[in-house]
Amino acid sequence: MPHRFDFLVLGGGVAGLSFALQAAEHGTVAVLTKRERHEGSTAYAQGGIASVLSPTDSFEQHIQDTLEAGAGINHLDAVEVTVREGPERIRELVALGADFNRRATGEFDLTREGGHSQRRILHAGDITGREVQRALLAACDEQPNITFFPNTSAIDLILDRRPNRGTGSRCLGFYALTAEGRIERFLSKVTVLATGGAGKVYLYTSNPDVATGDGVAMAYRAGAAVANMEFYQFHPTCLYHPEAKSFLISEALRGEGGKLRLSNGQQFMDQYHRMGELAPRDVVARAIDAELKRTGDDCVFLDMTHLGRAFLTERFPNIYATCKAFNIDMAVQPIPVVPAAHYMCGGVMTDLDGRTTLPGLYAIGEVAHTGLHGANRLASNSLLEGLVFGHRAARVCADEVRALALPREEPPEWDEGSAVDSDESVVVTHNWDEIRRLMWNYVGIVRTDKRLMRARRRLELLREEIRDYYWRFKVTSDVIELRNICEVATLIVDCASRRKESRGLHFTLDYPNADEHHWKRDTTVRREL
Ligand code: FAD
Ligand code: SIN
Repeated sequence: MPHRFDFLVLGGGVAGLSFALQAAEHGTVAVLTKRERHEGSTAYAQGGIASVLSPTDSFEQHIQDTLEAGAGINHLDAVEVTVREGPERIRELVALGADFNRRATGEFDLTREGGHSQRRILHAGDITGREVQRALLAACDEQPNITFFPNTSAIDLILDRRPNRGTGSRCLGFYALTAEGRIERFLSKVTVLATGGAGKVYLYTSNPDVATGDGVAMAYRAGAAVANMEFYQFHPTCLYHPEAKSFLISEALRGEGGKLRLSNGQQFMDQYHRMGELAPRDVVARAIDAELKRTGDDCVFLDMTHLGRAFLTERFPNIYATCKAFNIDMAVQPIPVVPAAHYMCGGVMTDLDGRTTLPGLYAIGEVAHTGLHGANRLASNSLLEGLVFGHRAARVCADEVRALALPREEPPEWDEGSAVDSDESVVVTHNWDEIRRLMWNYVGIVRTDKRLMRARRRLELLREEIRDYYWRFKVTSDVIELRNICEVATLIVDCASRRKESRGLHFTLDYPNADEHHWKRDTTVRREL
């Protein structure tokens, strides 16, 4: 028998949990997570949540900073709703028990990050995401209407394709691989993708292992429109250490006065942007990339030594302790850093309520392209987007669930065909590595037509191999993820190859300037079914 719920949510990060909490007021909710239920980018967020909470700040300034970072292609309506509804969502989060740093006077201790003209980043030390996740999970645990399915990976969406419906296909739910190794059907009137980003498409990333772009890949395969995948954000400062697995060194360090230096101690950011170290992220990442190529060095350094041990241990306890564990004492020595893939600015296209172009399917959080970020996300706007759009989508989904009758026909069970257990798992490991390496080398911070073409050719071969493997062998979570990173890598290359200009995060040596005439718009791709 299939699992049936009023609302199906794929993902237990800030977006999925915000949605689930609201939706549970109106019906039953299933929240699926690929690993343990706290594991996702939300739990690793460091810097904080951007919102207008200070009397010296204004919605207009936050909107302006977001538009400036986004390089001319943000959707103004998405920026407006996010910024204007933000403070209310933050107040709700605080009411749930989220504990953010405050000054002695009681008001929030707001910090600064790149691209922000004001101190407007709310934070819980340097582990803001962990606190947000904790508060949301605790609130969900109080809600009897919410059921969690940890260690359960959605594989593909189930579509109702009956020809006489007249409205095109509709999403009815999905097939998922359960913790027990069975493939089961999950059905509902609305399915919500809150699956986060796809940093694992690149060799070096700040993202946790679950970030394999499953939501985008599933939505694209089902025919939903996807946009702006060329705008993959590289965070300028991840710890450079062979064992650190790209641990993030928060932008808040630069917000508090951190300086970027070359190995000879020289500062360089002022040559690249009037905001120096606090320039938007795309500018800083490209500057570091250029300096590394020029000097031949492996990393640059983030110098915090002038701020003193007392301040650093108090303000950045997690980063301080992690650096210390790698024998780096940030109070007396600069931290070695390099850029790494961090955030997917494009994604599944949605309207202002999270509706995708596929009826019955919604997308919220990092997996969605709402238009908020344009060609480059402003720091700390992502947790905010998850809160705002989780809430907005829940409101309209509740209406949709009330108004809709469930389809009478039951979709078929998963058909395993003649698939057998794999005897060559090495193919999976090898292809994983190849995709991530080629994306890093050919589709990274600086691109060219030739590199994109090379990437495309290799991906075409890998897609064939993976497709063959997928049909011949029984599905495992590794194969699900491999198939998805290959899909997402192809979408990034597709979008990047179409955009014949440089804008925001997409920089190509062949077209180094923005083309305001032809390219001040989104790149949209959609699979014909
Ligand atoms: P996530 O929190 O990534 O959750 C995704 C969920 O989807 C997980 O539960 C996962 O298990 C589940 N999932 C995925 N695929 C499947 C599948 N096939 N089946 C079932 N479940 C699935 N943003 C800020 O605004 N401020 C910050 O300070 C900040 N710092 C960051 C620091 C780091 C190190 C990282 C990696 C990101 C940071 N970001 C920050 C970005 C921000 O954390 C993320 O964009 C945001 O948390 C994404 O939330 P989400 O709910 O969309 O997805
Ligand atoms: C950081 O703390 O630098 C990450 C902030 C973000 O990605 O928004």
